[in-house]
Amino acid sequence: MTTAPLRAPDTSGAVPGNAPAPGPLDQVAPFVQFGPDLLATALAEVPEDGVTEFTDSWHDLPADAHLGTATPYRFRRYGSFRLLPDRLEKLPHAAFFQDRTVNKVNGGVDRMFAPLDESVASGAALRTVVRTLFGRLPGPRTGIDTCGVHQIRVTATTDAEGHPAPEGVHQDGHSYVAQVLIRREDVEGAESTLYDLGRRRIHHALLTAPMETIVLDDRRVLHGVSPVRPAPGARTGVRDMLLVDFFPGPTG
Ligand SMILES: [Fe+2]
Repeated sequence: MTTAPLRAPDTSGAVPGNAPAPGPLDQVAPFVQFGPDLLATALAEVPEDGVTEFTDSWHDLPADAHLGTATPYRFRRYGSFRLLPDRLEKLPHAAFFQDRTVNKVNGGVDRMFAPLDESVASGAALRTVVRTLFGRLPGPRTGIDTCGVHQIRVTATTDAEGHPAPEGVHQDGHSYVAQVLIRREDVEGAESTLYDLGRRRIHHALLTAPMETIVLDDRRVLHGVSPVRPAPGARTGVRDMLLVDFFPGPTG
């Protein structure tokens, strides 16, 4: 694993959502990686059945109808929220749109994904995770008042590998993006790599423990994920991710 030769944001603050504000942007690494403890500690405040309901919800994701493959290998739900001090305000369900300049495979079209289950959207687990991640953004939070939440499962079989990022090395078109591993079972691959804007590799990681997280400044880095294959001896495997996009809302 390599890290950028820049100072990482101060992550010593123990209270989720109240991490110290990062320093000047040119001195702050454009990403930060956390072991599972950050979110596990935050989720310890949530009733255990609420956390289980949250992580089990990845077992009920419909196929991504926009994938364009005969056999689906990606399953997902999506929702967006206004970030309020004490809660997430759910926004009307809408299509997810990325510009073609950032997503050459699926950009330029509205993609209507299935909405989050209400239990997930209104649950304490999601609220806690989003608030914790918001407190650890690698850069200024000013004006960032909205988030998009993606639940994504990528499957791999002996017949077909899964592609977490079919668009290759890319940006998502947001301000910040958090990538949280929820589950990784019987798969190999899915190595995460970050690049600077000159496409020089600045970070490489394999998320293996549930709740391991990378939070990146989507304006300052590109990212890619290698394909997922079944682990040796396995016929199928899954990799479940929570992605949280942070950006200024229309009136933000
Ligand atoms: Fe992405």
